[in-house]
Amino acid sequence: MLATLTTLGPYAVGSAVALWASYHKVRTRVELSRAKYRSLAGHARISRIVAGLMPFYEYDETRFFRCDSPTNAVAERRRSGFTRLSTHYREHFRKTAAMTADVTNGISDLQFTGAYRVPFQFSRVVQRHLSDGSFLAASSGVTVTDLDGNTFYDLTGCYGVNVFGHDFYKGCIAAGAVRVQELGAVLGTYHSVVAYNVARLRDISGLDEVSFHMSGTEAVMQAVRLARYHTRRRRLVRFCGAYHGWWGGVQPGVGNPSAEPDTLTLADISERTLRVLRRRRDIACVLVNPLQALHPNRGAPSDASLIDSTRTAHFDREAYTSFLQQLRTVCDERNIVLIFDEVFVGFRLASEGARSYFGVQPDLVTYGKTLGGGLPVGVLCGRSRLMKRYRDDRPADICFARGTFNSHPYVMGAMHEFLRRLETPAIQALYTNLDALWNGRAEQLNRRLAAGGVPVSVANLSSIWTFCYTRPSRYNWMLQYYMRAEGLALSWVGTGRLIFSFDYTDADYAVVVDRILAACGAMHRDGWWDGGATTNKAIKRNILREAANATVARLRRRSIPASSSAGTH
Ligand SMILES: Cc1ncc(COP(=O)(O)O)c(C=O)c1O
Repeated sequence: MLATLTTLGPYAVGSAVALWASYHKVRTRVELSRAKYRSLAGHARISRIVAGLMPFYEYDETRFFRCDSPTNAVAERRRSGFTRLSTHYREHFRKTAAMTADVTNGISDLQFTGAYRVPFQFSRVVQRHLSDGSFLAASSGVTVTDLDGNTFYDLTGCYGVNVFGHDFYKGCIAAGAVRVQELGAVLGTYHSVVAYNVARLRDISGLDEVSFHMSGTEAVMQAVRLARYHTRRRRLVRFCGAYHGWWGGVQPGVGNPSAEPDTLTLADISERTLRVLRRRRDIACVLVNPLQALHPNRGAPSDASLIDSTRTAHFDREAYTSFLQQLRTVCDERNIVLIFDEVFVGFRLASEGARSYFGVQPDLVTYGKTLGGGLPVGVLCGRSRLMKRYRDDRPADICFARGTFNSHPYVMGAMHEFLRRLETPAIQALYTNLDALWNGRAEQLNRRLAAGGVPVSVANLSSIWTFCYTRPSRYNWMLQYYMRAEGLALSWVGTGRLIFSFDYTDADYAVVVDRILAACGAMHRDGWWDGGATTNKAIKRNILREAANATVARLRRRSIPASSSAGTH
């Protein structure tokens, strides 16, 4: 008996260890699955598969007005409203649209942004009849002017770059160029303006060291690479929906043809996510884009995906702050590098960025956009121990980072002007009561929208706004075209994101509100929100049905030539 036990002993122990290991593996996997947000965006691999299955189909010029089964009278109102709008676009944006049409074939980006302004079923009809154009001739104050001489209130915020107004950046670029012109475009060394830039960035970030890059995307790449190098772990955690630039590692879902097995997309503001961070040993860093506070777990809102009225946004400062605090604690406990990606919100929420706005100190921070004073830039700030690119005891084990144009004198000059102006009392005063100002303005607009009886409301994170729609509809994306006709410039994501610069006066803002109201009123009168009674669920079901029919039709089309050719032989 003893002999048998002695023989079986090692096997029993081996089996127990194997059992424990598989239990541990399964538990880790289950915990990971539970920490994913329950939407498609929360599941990168599945979302790519689903996107790959979606067939193209589109509405002809009859169905375009009728896809939600409106009455004939409503469909006719829509058609005549659309014709009126189209005439307005043709007459007012002639030169701008013509130049855009001339170059579109040669500019891939323009083809993409042109096609993805609205849900794809409507895209070609819209492009044919509401082509506004992508060229501008001038900017001044809070306005921009196109090639036809039309002036628009600029609500694009230049992708977030424009915090202080167009004239501010013109000033930074011009004065910065004067500062560095003696040196010119000499690369690989520094202009002396860099010394001040570094000192200020250390103060602003509360961190020890700085590295300069050419874009926000590259700053994020470097942050993640350093985190992996120093922790010797490979996984990066990003939150569902968060944008961190277009580098593959931070964009594991739709839009990136590669699978990114080292990237874990977890739910934002989630206890389950914290549990995963507490347990796993392979996580190098957690990336936070504080802009997600406006719409946790959702992607950047764009009118291309505005297929119904389920877009929601709501900023809960307390909840988000509390999550960041917990995240900080877990990262400390597990030696995970906490990275704030402030490329978008840095200098917009507070002059010392999201870290001071939320009162949580990250280990690494990325900045970009506005910090370049109007020129392209990415910046990484971090603790010395994390920024070091070599090991004292392993000289060949380095963490490489270069970039021909990093620290370009003209960019450093414009950044220098930006940082100097940031310190002035006039600019600092803009941050006083900033949230109160923009929250008040949003509330004022919401009151007017409600009083006007239009199914539209806005949600905001300070000066960053999103339009939401309160009645299920397939046509909310039309609003961007009515707004443009009223002289309001939106970026290609339409009403998904409006970004105000701080130089908007109350008088400017009052005009914008009147124009938004006028746009909503016209759209309302033209019947776009008067479809047959429906729900968001029913809208989604209809679209799925249409997609299934399109797939079947496509398969049939494919099989016809094959069978007919078979018949001829
Ligand atoms: C949070 C965030 N990170 C990174 C990036 C990428 O910056 P860039 O476009 O300069 O590469 C962006 C750009 O929008 C961003 O919003």
